[in-house]
Parts: sequence; structure tokens; C-alpha cells
Amino acid sequence: MKKDLSNIKKSKFLLNRNECIGIPTETVYGLAANAYSDLATSKIFKLKKRPKNNPLIVHYYSLENLKKDCKINQNFIKLYKKFCPGPITFILKLKSKNKISKNVTNKKKTLAVRFPKHSLTRKLLKELDFPLAAPSANISTKVSAVSKKDVEEEFGNKIKFILDGGSSKIGLESTIVNLDPKPAILRLGAIEVSKINKVLKNKVNYKSKNNKNSVPGQGKLHYSPGIQIRRNVKNPKKHEAFLLIKKRKISDKNFFYLTKNNNLNEAGKNLYKTLRMIKKLKYNSISVEKIPNKGIGQTINDRLIRASKR
Ligand code: TXA
Ligand code: MG
Repeated sequence: MKKDLSNIKKSKFLLNRNECIGIPTETVYGLAANAYSDLATSKIFKLKKRPKNNPLIVHYYSLENLKKDCKINQNFIKLYKKFCPGPITFILKLKSKNKISKNVTNKKKTLAVRFPKHSLTRKLLKELDFPLAAPSANISTKVSAVSKKDVEEEFGNKIKFILDGGSSKIGLESTIVNLDPKPAILRLGAIEVSKINKVLKNKVNYKSKNNKNSVPGQGKLHYSPGIQIRRNVKNPKKHEAFLLIKKRKISDKNFFYLTKNNNLNEAGKNLYKTLRMIKKLKYNSISVEKIPNKGIGQTINDRLIRASKR
């Protein structure tokens, strides 16, 4: 506890001085900086090698703070009440007078906002006089980071501090919902589309094929371990790493279980960690057992498809 307090103090000190730090969230780790500062946010793009036209998500502590920068609407209130703080990101209209750095939005009139649930990050946000711009803490197009060690692997000593909050509970990014004004899912994520549909009543569709409603950063190549991935495989080749979700009678050393009992939440939590491990073991091909395309399975498949495009 004492250690957490001094780490939050250190995070605050660095953020107040326009530095970038790693922060834990329940989805994945973020690379955070003062969202109101041009200098601080410009460092995020440099560190991540992120194209300037890919806008950032801004993390708020409270609704009250958000209202200073964004306009809210009924659908937002409904979803906020149900899911926040939690793994959902909203696209909202910016107020004409807002303090968000121009680097964050890439001249867009909208802002992606989120209220992360991780207790350490909430404590930190509460202490700050500004919200945090924080994309996933990985080099652009690479696999997201789900622990302090992963963030270290991505950025080494290029960042001054990582707030250690253990491994991310969910391990997949937030679901992004456009609410400006018509609801649409822009990125599959930790909250299933059906749960969002239930709250909004009017059907929010997500078409994975030719989805025009996609976020700018959802390029063809993403979440990529830099290794070819084959999906829906029954029998892997000897030299490939094989990802599974159901226990088999006979296992081999190239078998990597995301879960042994078809628990897709567990599989989601282990996905990025396992992709990182496979890369370290120098496999140059990955095959994946069929994963049911429903609920979190849909998000896992989305990430695998993007990771496998080369
Ligand atoms: O779970 C998460 O959402 C994590 C944690 C750290 O909060 N963050 C995350 O950020 O995944 P990032 O930058 O890796 O992905 C955010 C996506 C990008 O693809 C970006 O293009 C999109 O959100 N985005 C940001 N602002 C947007 C806007 N105004 N309109 C549409 N898409 C936007
Ligand atoms: Mg990302």
C-alpha cells in the first residue's frame, strides 16, 4: 500500500512535468501523458512511432471532468451508468471550448473517452488536474502490453516510469462505440456487442466484413507478433506454435493453451501474453484452433485476423 502511494506520487510528478509513463488498466497497459499538453502528447507519438493522424483515447476520472471537454447525450448516459468505470470507449462531440491538445484529436471534432477501472489508475487520475491521453503501450502495429514487463520490452529505458498494477485483468482492449450521433461499434473489444445492444435497445450492428465504421487506427496490420498466423486449424504442423482453447489427450511442446476448458474470457486474458511468449521462443509460424465467433470469441478472432495479415 505504502509502495502504491509513493508510486502514484512519482507518476504524478512525472506527468506534471510533461513526461510519458506506463499505466495499468483492466484492458491493457497504456502509455499516458497529459491530454491538455501539446508537448506531453507529442512524446506519445514519437515513442510509439504512431502516425500523427491516428487520434488518442483520453482517460477521465469522473463525468464531471469529462463534461468540461465533451458534449454528452442520452445514449452515453445509459452506457456510462451500466459499464463505467470499465472497458468501453465512447466517441463524443468535443465542446467548442475544450482544453484537449490538438495532437490528441488530429483536428477531429470528436474525442474518444474512457473511464478505466483499475484502482491504481483511478487513484492517479483523481490526483491530477488533467485527463490522460493513453493509447495502448506498444510500438504501433505490435502486440499490446498486459504487464509492466511487456511495457519494458516495448520501450526499454525510453520511458522514465511504469506504474505497476499487475497483469491486466481482461487483456483485450476496450470496445469502442461511436455516439456522434448514431450508435455504432467501431472496434470490437472487452464488452460484447450484445451487451451494448441490450442497453441501447435500438440495434447496434457490427459487421466484421467491409466494416466502414472502423477507427482510424484499426489498420490491416495490427496486434502483430510479426509471425504468420493460420486460423481454424485442426492439426498443426510440428514446427508451428499451436494455440488451443480445449484440452487434448495428447499435448506437445508446441501446444500453447489460452484456456483448457473453453473459457473464452480466460483465453482473451492470455492471448497477447501468449503471442509475446511464442515470439520469444522464435517460432516463425502460429496456427490456432477454431474459436467460436460469439461473445469475447468474436473479439479474439478479430485480433487474430488483424495479427495474421501481412
Ligand atoms: O482498452 C483500451 O482502449 C486501451 C487502454 C490503454 O485504454 N487503449 C487503446 O488505445 O486501445 P489505442 O490508441 O491503442 O486504440 C484507440 C483507437 C485507435 O484505433 C484510434 O484510431 C481510435 O481509438 N480513436 C481515437 N480517437 C478517435 C475518434 N475521435 N474517432 C474514432 N476513433 C478514434
Ligand atoms: Mg493499440
